[in-house]
Amino acid sequence: MKVLVTGGAGYIGSHTVVQLVEAGHEPVIVDNFVNSSPGVLDRINEITGREIEFHEADLTDVKKTLQLFDEVRPEAVIHFASLKAVGESVEKPLMYFRNNLDSALSVAEAMGSVGCQNIIFSSSATVYGDGDVPMNENQEYLRSDSPYGRTKIMIEQILTDVAAAHSIHVALLRYFNPVGAHESGLIGEDPLGIPNNLMPYVAQVAAGRRERLTVHGGDYDTPDGTCLRDYLHVVDLAEGHVKALECIAEGNVSVRAWNLGRGRAVSVLEIVHAFKEASGVDVPYVIGPRRAGDLPSVWADPSRARDELGWTAERTVADMCADTWRWQSSNPDGYRAS
Ligand code: UD1
Repeated sequence: MKVLVTGGAGYIGSHTVVQLVEAGHEPVIVDNFVNSSPGVLDRINEITGREIEFHEADLTDVKKTLQLFDEVRPEAVIHFASLKAVGESVEKPLMYFRNNLDSALSVAEAMGSVGCQNIIFSSSATVYGDGDVPMNENQEYLRSDSPYGRTKIMIEQILTDVAAAHSIHVALLRYFNPVGAHESGLIGEDPLGIPNNLMPYVAQVAAGRRERLTVHGGDYDTPDGTCLRDYLHVVDLAEGHVKALECIAEGNVSVRAWNLGRGRAVSVLEIVHAFKEASGVDVPYVIGPRRAGDLPSVWADPSRARDELGWTAERTVADMCADTWRWQSSNPDGYRAS
C-alpha cells in the first residue's frame, strides 16, 4: 500500500517508515521539521536501501495539504504530525489546539478529496486520564490533564464522526511509553534541548551530557516509591502500526481503538538500573520532588491488540536500554552532526 506518513521524520514516524518498507509497503514522508531533523531521511534510506519519497509541508495549511494528497494519492495515512510536549501545551494551549486540530482537519479533508479511506491516528494513553490500571479501551469517558492530551481526545472524536459520515476506516492507536531505537543505531529519539522524558534523559546522563537524573518523586505508593509506566520498544510500536494498517485496510473496521503497550509496569529506578546494566556506565541520580500531573501507575491491558491485530510487544526492557545506548553513544549530537 502507498502510505502517507505525516511526521515521518519524527521519532516514532521514522521507525514506522522503516517497518512499512520491511513489510512491503510504500511509505511517503511529509514533515515540516518543527521537531525533527532533515538528517533522519538519509538514515532511513540507508537502513531500507531505498530512496523514500519526501515532501516538506505544514499540514495546518489546508490548501497545501489538498495539493499534497492530490500529488501523492495515498491509499492510507498514518498521522503522527503533532506537537507533543505536555508542559508546553499548558503554557500555550491555543498553539496546541490550533496546530494539532488544524492539521488533523486538513488531513481528514484531503483524504475525502482523493478518496483515501484508511487512517491510523497516533493517540496516547493520556486519554485515559487517571483511569484504573491496567487501562483498557472500554473506559467509558476519556479525559486528560493537559491541552496536549485533550487534542488527542478531540481528534479521536473528530475522526469517529468523519468515519460515520464518510465510511472511512480509522485506527486509534493509544501508545503507552515508547522508548529505544532501531537496532542499527542509525535512527533514534533526538530531543531538542533538555529532554522531558525519562529514557532520553537517562541516556544523556550516561553519555556525560548531563550530570545526574532527578527522579521525580520517591514517595509514591509503589514497590520502590517511584512511578510505574508501561515502556515499550519503538520498533514494536512501529510494527503495531503495520498490523493496524493491514487490519483496517481489509475494510471491516469503521473506528477501533487499540492500546499499544506491553502490559508490564516498570518503575523509574528499574529503568535506571537496567540502563546501567545495558551500557556498563553509571547513571547518577537524586530523588527530587514529584512532577506536577504525574500519575503513580500507568500500564496497558494490551489484550485487544493481541487478539485482533495479532500484535504483541516482544522486546524487553534490556533491549530498549541497549538500543537506546547504541543510538546515543554512536550519535552523541543526534542528527545535528549528519
Ligand atoms: C509523558 C506525558 C504523556 C506523553 C508522554 C510521551 C506527562 C505528565 N505525561 O508521559 O502525556 O504522552 O510523556 O511524550 O508529562 N521521570 C523522572 N525524571 C525525568 C523524567 C521523567 O523521574 O527527568 C519520570 C516521570 O516522573 C515518570 C516517568 O519517569 O514517572 C516517565 O516519564 P516520561 O518519560 O516523561 O513519560 P510520562 O510522564 O509517562
